[in-house]
Amino acid sequence: MEKQIEKLKSEKNAVILAHYYAPEEAQKVADFVGDSFYLAKVAKKTSADIIVFCGVFFMGESAKILNPDKKVIMPDLSADCPMAHMVKPGIIEELRNTYEDLAVVCYINSTAELKCQSDVCVTSSNAVTIVKSLPNKNIFFIPDRNLGRFVAEQVPEKNIIINDGCCPIHAAITKEQLQKTKSEHPDALVLSHPECEPEILSLADYIGSTSDIIEYANKTDKKEFIICTEEGVKYKLISDNPKKKFYFVSPSPCCRDMKFNTLENILSALEKEDKVVEIDEATRKAALLPLDRMLECVK
Ligand code: 13P
Ligand code: SF4
Repeated sequence: MEKQIEKLKSEKNAVILAHYYAPEEAQKVADFVGDSFYLAKVAKKTSADIIVFCGVFFMGESAKILNPDKKVIMPDLSADCPMAHMVKPGIIEELRNTYEDLAVVCYINSTAELKCQSDVCVTSSNAVTIVKSLPNKNIFFIPDRNLGRFVAEQVPEKNIIINDGCCPIHAAITKEQLQKTKSEHPDALVLSHPECEPEILSLADYIGSTSDIIEYANKTDKKEFIICTEEGVKYKLISDNPKKKFYFVSPSPCCRDMKFNTLENILSALEKEDKVVEIDEATRKAALLPLDRMLECVK
């Protein structure tokens, strides 16, 4: 199946992008593997005619927003991120009426509809830098409460109002699970994604996006790590560091929707070109502004 994918990719001038949470088999056939920020930058720059996005819907949608003239396809269009929808209708307007200088900061894990109502997008690897750089005092951070709280702690000079959404996968990691894993591996450093709950972040030795976690593990001399994020990152961590040990809490955090990116689905999407990401032009243009602002802020 890998060979057929390779062949179709070159025949059709297609490029495959995969998030670190996609299954190992998808990461292996991908041309580019990375975190949300890296993949958004790759999607913006590519000269391919077709982008196959192995991620969840907001990622394919963002690639389409950035590349209106390219065909963006996904192995399974139903792969969704529940957090991307977790903002109460009307709340943005209500807060804009309350705070004159409000900036709506939108985690890229959000629908195009929400991006349209936002001033700037962020990802977990650039949220602190971007929020710090804004001239606005009052910020509404959507949709993730945990990343929002993490940013608020790093940028105390701002009034950050935090929306109450979360990633069900990261938020399900409990202190008890982590303490059990720590007791089994007392020498391991805890590396955590900021989407985890505060009780997990308070036990972490390092907090960062998936790319940041991988970079940290690659650079340090330490040999053992407990990774508090989705289990898909294990493939890259082990490939880069075959002599180091990586543990996850039990049960291992698994994003079901990311796992829809199977080889069968990638091949079928490339063959049929039927799983196409579509977005109406008015929505696309409005959602492009905060995405472009992010890419301008942190190159
Ligand atoms: P990053 O890709 O920014 O690490 O975010 C993780 C995530 O949950 C993507 O859905
Ligand atoms: Fe969404 Fe969480 Fe899955 Fe990331 S891991 S795509 S935030 S549900």
